[in-house]
Amino acid sequence: MNTAKESTAAAAGLRGVVAAQSSIGDVDGEQGILIYQGYDIHDLAENSTFEEVVYLLWNGRLPKKDELENLKQQFQANSEIPSEVLEMMKTFPKDANPMDVLRTSVSALGFYDKEGHGTDRENAVKTAVKLTAQIGTLVAAWERIRTGKDVIAPDKSLSIAENFLYMFQGEKPEPDEARIFDIALILHADHELNASTFTTRVIAGTLADIYGAVTGGIAALAGPLHGGANTNVMKMLKEIGSEDAIDGWLDKALEEKRKIMGIGHAVYKTEDPRATWLRKFSKQLGEKKGEMKWFNMSQKIEKAMLEKKGMYPNVDFYSASAYYLMDIPLDQYTPIFAVSRVSGWTGHILEQYGNNKLIRPRAEYIGQRDLKYTPIDGR
Ligand code: COA
Repeated sequence: MNTAKESTAAAAGLRGVVAAQSSIGDVDGEQGILIYQGYDIHDLAENSTFEEVVYLLWNGRLPKKDELENLKQQFQANSEIPSEVLEMMKTFPKDANPMDVLRTSVSALGFYDKEGHGTDRENAVKTAVKLTAQIGTLVAAWERIRTGKDVIAPDKSLSIAENFLYMFQGEKPEPDEARIFDIALILHADHELNASTFTTRVIAGTLADIYGAVTGGIAALAGPLHGGANTNVMKMLKEIGSEDAIDGWLDKALEEKRKIMGIGHAVYKTEDPRATWLRKFSKQLGEKKGEMKWFNMSQKIEKAMLEKKGMYPNVDFYSASAYYLMDIPLDQYTPIFAVSRVSGWTGHILEQYGNNKLIRPRAEYIGQRDLKYTPIDGR
């Protein structure tokens, strides 16, 4: 029997469908506004830190001094990964994609966290702390392992942003780059019901554990239409090669109906406010390193896409050249997205557990009916 089903044909990709109530974040696509728990992203990027934003996402308010200190200490205390997971990672093929490695390693963390599977708030927050503290350690460890270098243990005096760059690159970051990276983590922390966050809520809605939900989030984030776009932006810039080649390359790509990576958005119809910050960082790092090529090329593509298609850059467009100028390999841009987005995922998972209802939509059946089975010899 067909119970209360409405056609979703008009909402392909569930565009515009409200699938959850949430107080974590909101996107105003018309005006280009992003808020976390009521605070504008520009205010947070200007004044806050990633740790403070994580507290905000999970608790619905900014922390007091001792609460922030406590959370930072918990992140530092939980930043090491189990040695078994590290040993397992050393057996992975060195050419494995870092997102595949991260997905498998996060899933494996669950084996070694016997208390990490509870869905009550107290237990779930503990697991959220561990995952947020450890994802950066995993990403950095893989970079060291695959390049034949010694894995660097976390320095428990550093912030998540500083520690990540330290473990990844082998030396403590310069303060300006650590701050840029910290703001990049703030900018990527949450974005309402994007594909990966929706995935984590669907998984959590079955009352599966957080490790499973975050593993699913990583799988969804990997796709080129979602978090994978940042890597592809840099590949595109390298493929084009120079500013002079942009016009011809772009005309051909648009003629072939290729999607220009880092451009367009399912919700924003104007500038993505995160791109405003990342554009600034791409320029700042280009000036610092004396390598303006990638920023200049990006600007030219941005301008052309606005003129030709009325489309704006999204979060992935300028993060690509900014990360490139921080000497981060292309295929690590999406894992870095996960280092930040784990905070939003876990915030949404906590919210889902707190007021759970199994997420189970319907499909509009467009297949045949009333067919009669024909034995195989008679087909
Ligand atoms: N480059 C060129 N054309 C684009 C485009 C892009 N980046 N993004 C959308 N379009 C075009 C589509 O080809 C389509 O044109 P058509 O109507 O002539 O067929 C139209 O705009 C609508 O595209 P659609 O894919 O339906 O829009 P969407 O709202 O579903 O797409 C994205 C949102 C993000 C999936 C899409 O813009 C995209 O693929 N961007 C590149 C990948 C990316 O940067 N992803 C990161 C998102 S944060």
